[in-house]
Amino acid sequence: MDDLRDKYLTAIAAAADEAALEELRLAAVGKKGEVSLQMRELGRMTPEERQVAGPKLNALKDEINSALAAKKVALEDAALDARLAEEWLDVTLPARDRPRGTIHPVSQVTEEITAILADMGFAVAEGPQVETDWYNFDALNIPDHHPARTEMDTFYMARADGDNRPPHVLRTHTSPVQIRSMQAHGAPIRIICPGRVYRADYDQTHTPMFHQVEGLAIDKDISMANLKWVLEEFFSAYFGTKVKTRFRASHFPFTEPSAEVDIQCSFEGGQVKVGEGDGWLEVLGSGMVHPKVLEAGGIDPAEWQGFAFGIGIDRMAMLKYGIPDLRAFFDSDLRWLRHYGFSALQVPTLHGGL
Ligand code: PHE
Repeated sequence: MDDLRDKYLTAIAAAADEAALEELRLAAVGKKGEVSLQMRELGRMTPEERQVAGPKLNALKDEINSALAAKKVALEDAALDARLAEEWLDVTLPARDRPRGTIHPVSQVTEEITAILADMGFAVAEGPQVETDWYNFDALNIPDHHPARTEMDTFYMARADGDNRPPHVLRTHTSPVQIRSMQAHGAPIRIICPGRVYRADYDQTHTPMFHQVEGLAIDKDISMANLKWVLEEFFSAYFGTKVKTRFRASHFPFTEPSAEVDIQCSFEGGQVKVGEGDGWLEVLGSGMVHPKVLEAGGIDPAEWQGFAFGIGIDRMAMLKYGIPDLRAFFDSDLRWLRHYGFSALQVPTLHGGL
């Protein structure tokens, strides 16, 4: 029995794989295995002999079975270790690149402008793109037959036959949102309104739809100096460099006095560079809100005053990112969008950079 025990335990320990182990199991404790045959011999023994040999054989059988089971687990572990050593996965590898869309420069620049002006305390307001002629013109001190109505190349909406009310218009500027905001919130007020505007015009620097951001600040002691400070701070933050501005006396029906604002730039080699050189580029209209406009907004001009400005967003994008032709903004050309577009993760913030 000791010989059997030594023989099988040694062989089991040395078994190289599960097939060898199975062979050993059959040879030892299978139906015709050596241990099984020994057990059959028990029948021929005297009861005394059997009492000694029986438990010993059972113990041997148990010992071999548990050696087989332990070896089986050990072989499985070894097989797994070998696989793990051979097949491995680098979970730190960057994921495969997938084609994705980009953020349009107009969207990006709108976010940039909003981040800067929001930091100066301007809340964002919105208004409809299809406006009544009252909000787009009359309330802004542009009465019927005023030349500004035709100068703006307005798109008029159609009216049903027999409907003689004045037609709605596609808003020609974001200024009607000044009136809507004053009516909704009264004074004091400090808002900006970014959005789409429409004029029938088309060339390298004009498209029938483009974008403006309106600014409006009304309080008891607001002056042109505040307007100038806000705009200069704004341009410096936006372009990331000190930008000189030039205020030119101008005329808008809705502001008095009015100023068109130019920013300093150079035009060398067909390239426009902001913040250097001795050239000037017009980028916005502004002024002190006309008393009639305050009245239209339901605000008493004897008590309140303020400034307003309207910046062309598309032009700001062209200037900052060196985009030469405005028309391409709206062509939906994928090559253009991939080149000039921004990653969705490049969210403009004051602390993260613009
Ligand atoms: N609404 C003017 C335009 O579209 C810009 C402007 C806004 C001027 C506010 C003065 C004040 O040209």
